[in-house]
Amino acid sequence: MAKVPVQLRINQEDYQVFVEPRKLLSDVIREDVGLTGTHVGCEHGECGACTILWDARPARSCLLFAVQAEGHEITTIEAVSHDGQLSPLQQAFHEEHGLQCGFCTPGIIMTFESYLKDHPNPSEAEIRDVLSGNLCRCTGYQNIVCAIKKAAGMITTGPQKR
Ligand code: FES
Ligand code: FES
Repeated sequence: MAKVPVQLRINQEDYQVFVEPRKLLSDVIREDVGLTGTHVGCEHGECGACTILWDARPARSCLLFAVQAEGHEITTIEAVSHDGQLSPLQQAFHEEHGLQCGFCTPGIIMTFESYLKDHPNPSEAEIRDVLSGNLCRCTGYQNIVCAIKKAAGMITTGPQKR
């Protein structure tokens, strides 16, 4: 299939790639743009590992073609920290041991970077409900929930000492 030019706006930078129209956004982000923090697990919308922000909202990049992304603002895990400083959510995952292999982590971080902006004080039930869209095969989720709760507290009250 012939390749076509696609203009992408990712992490506030412009990229032009030449890709087949059927190529998934997740694969283009990883293979053509070189941002490999976005992971690919199931490739059919089940696991959430490939979650990116699409115009500031979480989206499964394995369910989108790259050609659909023209004119949209894409954010990946690489843009979450600033000047070497982890975001409150990343810091909380670090402190609460919210990961083991880390394969699911970028997708979960992207999901909750968006969610906590609109829901700064979620209940544990609300966190678990949102988290149900992201599969983790390692942790049993408990430390992930603890990390998200801690991050919510950091966002509303500022960084806390342990
Ligand atoms: S790789 Fe996209 S949802 Fe699993
Ligand atoms: S930490 Fe391994 S899949 Fe979640």
